[in-house]
Amino acid sequence: MSFSLIAAIGKNGELGKNGELIFHIKEDMQFFRETTTGHKVVMGRKTWESFPGKLKDRENIVISRSEVKGADKTIHDIDKFITENENTDEEIFIIGGGQIYEAFLPHAKTLYLTEIDATSDADTYFPTFDKSKYDKEIIKKGQSHDLIYAFAKYSLK
Ligand SMILES: NC(=O)c1ccc[n+]([C@@H]2O[C@H](COP(=O)([O-])OP(=O)(O)OC[C@H]3O[C@@H](n4cnc5c(N)ncnc54)[C@H](OP(=O)(O)O)[C@@H]3O)[C@@H](O)[C@H]2O)c1
Repeated sequence: MSFSLIAAIGKNGELGKNGELIFHIKEDMQFFRETTTGHKVVMGRKTWESFPGKLKDRENIVISRSEVKGADKTIHDIDKFITENENTDEEIFIIGGGQIYEAFLPHAKTLYLTEIDATSDADTYFPTFDKSKYDKEIIKKGQSHDLIYAFAKYSLK
């Protein structure tokens, strides 16, 4: 199974601004919770700090060059973590942000992307990737207020 990236992105890959999310879609939060619950979730220190606390019912692993208080585990060496875990049987979810998606993208087999049909001002973007290398499945489409979105699953061919 190895690594799965999970993110909600705008039309240009917009992820965040000023340390916060840009788009707020209740159904997306629910999809994120259902998909990641019971698994390890790996995040950068800035994403960790954007949450009020630990994500419950998940092992919270935070990547930082310093020690992070409150996390289940802090990882200082991404490459070592990748080498030690990329052939694991479990599905480990990489939950952002931009720096961490970039580091794990070449090692991920699955990308769960909530593709939101909107653009916005942003300072953090999902890395560009070669879509021809993946099979794309639309899990579900929806609309929340004025935001049209689709839950897409990209599986490495
Ligand atoms: N739309 C979405 O689905 C989604 C999901 C997640 C996050 N976001 C948004 O993305 C933004 C945050 O993303 P970001 O790219 O700014 O930050 P980030 O990836 O969350 O965290 C960056 C931090 O990770 C640590 N780090 C990165 N590379 C490392 C390495 N090679 N070795 C050790 N530590 C390393 C560093 O922590 P230290 O500085 O502590 O060393 C670095 O400052 C926020 O706006 C957030 O809301 C959006």
